Amino acid sequence: MQQAASGQHTPVLWREAVDALVTDPGGLYVDGTFGRGGHARRLLSRLSPAGRLVAIDRDLQAVAAATTGATRVDDPRFSIHHTSFAHMVPTLGDLGVTKVHGLLLDLGVSSPQIDDPERGFSFRFDGPLDMRMDTTRGESAADFLARADVRKMTEVIRDYGEERFALQVAKALVARRESGNPVRTTAQLSEVVAGAVKTREPGQNPATRTFQALRIFVNAELEELEQGLSAALELLLPGGRLVVISFHSLEDRIVKTFIARESKSVFDRRAPFAEPKPSRLVALGRVKPSDAEVDANPRSRSAVMRVAERTEVAA
Ligand SMILES: C[S@@+](CC[C@H](N)C(=O)[O-])C[C@H]1O[C@@H](n2cnc3c(N)ncnc32)[C@H](O)[C@@H]1O
Repeated sequence: MQQAASGQHTPVLWREAVDALVTDPGGLYVDGTFGRGGHARRLLSRLSPAGRLVAIDRDLQAVAAATTGATRVDDPRFSIHHTSFAHMVPTLGDLGVTKVHGLLLDLGVSSPQIDDPERGFSFRFDGPLDMRMDTTRGESAADFLARADVRKMTEVIRDYGEERFALQVAKALVARRESGNPVRTTAQLSEVVAGAVKTREPGQNPATRTFQALRIFVNAELEELEQGLSAALELLLPGGRLVVISFHSLEDRIVKTFIARESKSVFDRRAPFAEPKPSRLVALGRVKPSDAEVDANPRSRSAVMRVAERTEVAA
């Protein structure tokens, strides 16, 4: 087995994200995806002594990194909470927070998660096929593959991995399971996928799409994102900013559609003579990493950051 890397995570688009987020240095901000605090630390350095940052991560190792050892965030303006950003309204409510000045979501997995073979996120390392960000709940990818039928597996691999050979991969996985040798590790999954995917995309491991699909499914990433965006709308103060960094088209499509929908004024068909209801967001734009950032951090290549500002209209 290969060794895990150093446990570092290089934040993507951090300067652009912090610039877009901070409208009031004395305000209250939420980092819904703490990771290793790349954005959080830089955000704190931009806030005044009156500012406050509430961080969230669904991964216990991220929470541990923020609270213990050399990586600890030792700052009275900071706190971190183990939950999903989909549930941030009640979590913040418990802290007496109902409104915030800005909210950041830097989606997907962190480098320490990918680089730890025990987490099962990567085909680059052999390890148990887990893939859960929150290992305290839910079903691992291996457990899903141990119970799902061909139809369900095909659906997941096709819809979340955009894999043309989804049916072939699913059939191969079920055949292997039925022969008494179910897939339990990342290397076994890679091997099965490599045998089922008939065309090769240049520079891409054939297992890339299937790994992405299982990760999205196991962590209900798209549903969580929808809920997180609705929560953001509820929490943001007028003038407050929503900043979301996505790493694949399925996520970005959800963010883009949400911002577009909430940036339109709504005509109520039941009240045809009433004024249309004004929009709750104003889209402020879309940012991609510079060539220099992509050269320095290849992981940033697929990143897209979208920014929106909350209007005065009630949620
Ligand atoms: C790309 S990393 C964030 C990196 C971070 N911005 C940094 O610079 O260190 C994504 C993090 O978000 C967490 N995460 C993903 N989905 C989440 C969710 N629905 N709720 C809370 N945390 C989530 C993951 O566990 C991971 O630690």
